[in-house]
Amino acid sequence: MNGIKSRIESLKKEKNAVILAHYYVPAKVQEVADYIGDSFYLSKIAKEASQDTIVFCGVSFMGESAKILSPGKLVLMPDITADCPMAHMAQVSKIEEVRREYDDVAVVCYINSTGGLKEHSDVCVTSSNAVKIVKALPNKNIYFIPDGNLGRYVASQVQDKHFIFNDGFCPVHAEVCRDDVEAAKKAHPGALLLVHPECRMEVLEEADYIGSTSGIIDYASKSSAGEFIIGTELGVMYELEQKNPGKKFYPLVSGQICPDMKKITLEKVLKCMEEESGAIEVEEELRNSAIASLDRMLELAR
Ligand code: 13P
Ligand code: SF4
Repeated sequence: MNGIKSRIESLKKEKNAVILAHYYVPAKVQEVADYIGDSFYLSKIAKEASQDTIVFCGVSFMGESAKILSPGKLVLMPDITADCPMAHMAQVSKIEEVRREYDDVAVVCYINSTGGLKEHSDVCVTSSNAVKIVKALPNKNIYFIPDGNLGRYVASQVQDKHFIFNDGFCPVHAEVCRDDVEAAKKAHPGALLLVHPECRMEVLEEADYIGSTSGIIDYASKSSAGEFIIGTELGVMYELEQKNPGKKFYPLVSGQICPDMKKITLEKVLKCMEEESGAIEVEEELRNSAIASLDRMLELAR
């Protein structure tokens, strides 16, 4: 084991810390994590972890959600500037306007959002549970924030509700288009196409499977097929290849990289553990109002 890794391992024991990592952070960081997963899995672990300290290797909405769910724990982020641009792409004023316009409306908030948006929402969802949760809601109208693409995907699966969409998007997924799919299928004619629902509808329509990062990894691992085109951030390749040494994985487009997730390096993980820097603070008032939407997600997804 190299020096940095062994130092991180000793600090875990010394500080009673657990390292959580999203599939999009660099492979070297995933290697030192105790838990690697999609946003839903990691939020459950953050709530249930027995350790005093959580080192969250991901972007700011992930660390903030962990702190809201586990306020008594020290939540450290290796780089507090790692942020998801989509998390800011909705407005509270618009939520209030929609609430005035529709009587029977649920504001459904993708977990990729700020605490300030969660505070004004009825329930949070992730890409792995959004369809299930929206189906379980009693409301007829759904205002889905911030991701318009995920919202439209959920609407395509839940046809008895009326949706109001927001125009937020993930810059890493929304740039992929139908021409990219055509080119990838031409280059790899036998391969199955697995995509994340943050992609545009024209891409989803061509897919053999649509799901969260964990969903994509599970699907490829259980499938009897041997070749796959992967339409999500390329950090998932690490786990896909670890779990499936005999299978082939091709990126749908080259360079599908989230620059914020890639800010998390092994050196920064070590530094934040040594110095206990990058601690996430959430004001009590915000926490008290934002926790309801996260708790409701955990309850409805069960
Ligand atoms: P998952 O919940 O599928 O891991 O997605 C998180 C994310 O940021 C996708 O861009
Ligand atoms: Fe946000 Fe997109 Fe990066 Fe996910 S991949 S963290 S949605 S910018």
